[in-house]
Amino acid sequence: APEEVLTTVGDLGLVPVIVLDDADDAVPLLTTLREAGLPIAEITFRTPAAADALKAVRDAGLTEGIDAVQLGAGTVTTIEHVDSAIEAGAKFIVSPGFSPKIVQHCQDRGIVVIPGAVTATEIQGCLEMGLTTLKFFPASTSGGPEAVKAIASPFKSVRVIPTGGIDVGNVAGYLSLPNVCAVGGSWMVPRSAIQSRNFSIIRSLTQEAVAVIRSIRK
Ligand code: 3PG
Repeated sequence: APEEVLTTVGDLGLVPVIVLDDADDAVPLLTTLREAGLPIAEITFRTPAAADALKAVRDAGLTEGIDAVQLGAGTVTTIEHVDSAIEAGAKFIVSPGFSPKIVQHCQDRGIVVIPGAVTATEIQGCLEMGLTTLKFFPASTSGGPEAVKAIASPFKSVRVIPTGGIDVGNVAGYLSLPNVCAVGGSWMVPRSAIQSRNFSIIRSLTQEAVAVIRSIRK
């Protein structure tokens, strides 16, 4: 079932948010993430390389088998992005904000959608559309862990993925909260490291991130 991807997100506890300048970097990058224990990726439509990057990952077979990479599209802000992401093999859609139009389109097309929401109004809008797993974005400037904690009382069914300004130093403040299903972040996939194809630094940063998340959750 499509919703199973959310279980994997929760199990992994971390969604790497990726900006690719060159689609050719997608396969070595996602192979590195998988080998480092993080078989998931949110490839953002912040660059024109996004659709080709998603396709390259799918065509390389990385999304199949027991160690399949969960492939998602991020920074999705238009209907065209949604269609392009689905066509390229994405299994989940992430938006920075809450657009009822985009959510409806994803639901019509049967793909999991995780919209951004931080205010009570935005959260209620998502709930009205049947969504309970939301991206809390931008996390650090929207009140951080205190704000995430504060939405737990009125919104018992909501689980969030705080993203924005998170790193190994502050991730525990978020991930230890019961209404946090996972966190998102780019700290283990620095754009400059991808550009210089420094996959060994990405491997170390990812291994460190995975170890930190396991230690918070143990
Ligand atoms: C996103 O789009 O989710 C953010 O750019 C990720 O935030 P970060 O770069 O601060 O981790």
